[in-house]
Amino acid sequence: MLDDKKVMMSGMQSTGMITLGNYLGALKNWVDLNDDENLKCFYGIMDLHSITVRQDPAELRKSARNLLMLYIAAGLDPEKNCIFFQSHVSAHPELSWILNCFTYMGEMSRMTQFKDKSAKHADNINTGLFTYPVLMAADILLYQADYVPVGKDQMQHLEITRDIANRFNNIYGDVFTIPEAYVGKAGAKIMSLQEPTKKMSKSDENPNASIFLLDDKDTIMRKFKKAVTDSDGFIAYSDDKPGIKNLIDIYRAVTGKTVDEALKEFDGMGYGKLKEVVGETVANELAPLQARFKELSADKAYIDGVMKNNAAQASYYANKTLRKVKKKVGFIELPR
Ligand code: TRP
Repeated sequence: MLDDKKVMMSGMQSTGMITLGNYLGALKNWVDLNDDENLKCFYGIMDLHSITVRQDPAELRKSARNLLMLYIAAGLDPEKNCIFFQSHVSAHPELSWILNCFTYMGEMSRMTQFKDKSAKHADNINTGLFTYPVLMAADILLYQADYVPVGKDQMQHLEITRDIANRFNNIYGDVFTIPEAYVGKAGAKIMSLQEPTKKMSKSDENPNASIFLLDDKDTIMRKFKKAVTDSDGFIAYSDDKPGIKNLIDIYRAVTGKTVDEALKEFDGMGYGKLKEVVGETVANELAPLQARFKELSADKAYIDGVMKNNAAQASYYANKTLRKVKKKVGFIELPR
C-alpha cells in the first residue's frame, strides 16, 4: 500500500493498566522501530475488543485515554507512527462484518482464547467474544500489514487472519496482503512475580503479581521484594528456577544486557540483593515515562490533537481497503 515501505500493525486492548510485561514484551520494541525508515507502523488502542467483556464506561474511557498517553510517554512518536483508537475508524467493524461471512463457526470455536475467556466469563459468552478474532483480522488486513508483532498467545489469531485473507483472495483476487508474524528483536516474555510459570497479566487477581506502568518506586520495590523465587539460594539462569530466571529476564530486557553479562554482575549476590537491583533498574526505567505521562495528562489539547490527526490518517488507509472490498463483494458504491 505504501510503495516502498513495509507495513506493521499491532495494538493492545484498552482495559485496565498495562504491565511491565506489556511494556518489555511489546511497547518498548515498538519504540525501537520509531526511526526505521522502511516501516510504516500502525498501533491501535483496541477499544472495540474491550467490550467483549463487560466494562464500566467511565473506566473504559479512562483506560483508553491512559493507554494512548502511555504509548506516547514510552516514546512512541505519534508523528512517525499512526496511533489511533479502533472505535474512531468505522472501517474496522465494517470490514469485520464482511469477514464474518467468510469465517466458519468451527474455526472460531477452536480458538483457545475464546475457550479460556468463555470459561472465565461464563455468565457473558456473547457472540462478540466468539468473533473477536475476525475483528482482529479486520484490524490487520485493513492496513495491508506485512508484519504483525504478536506474542505466542495471539499467534492463533494471526493464523486465522491469514486463513481468512487467503480465502477472500482466492475468491476475489489479490485484495489483502497476507500478514506474517514479526520476528525482529523478540520481545521479552515476562512472567508473574507471584507465579513465575504464568505470564504477567494486567487482569491478575493478585496485585503483587504484576508491575503496572504507573506504579511508584515504593510499590515497585515492595512487589519485587515479595517476588516468588526458590529455596536453592544461588543465582542461575534455568527453567528449573523460573522465579530467578524471570528476574534476570526483566533485568536483561530493561538493560539490553546478555544472560552472561547479567550473571556476572549478580555473581555471589543473595536473592534479596538481586530483587533490590532488579527493582531499582525497573523503577529507574519507568521514572521518565511516568514523568512524561504526568505532563501529557495535563495537556488535553495536545492529546486531543493526536487523536484527531491519527484517526484521520488511519481512516484514510483503512477506507481505501474497505472500498475495494465492498466493490469486490458486489456492493453498489454511493453515487457522488
Ligand atoms: N488481541 C490482541 C491482544 O489481546 C489485541 C489486538 C487487537 C491486536 N487487534 C490487533 C494485536 C491487531 C495485533 C494486531 O493482545
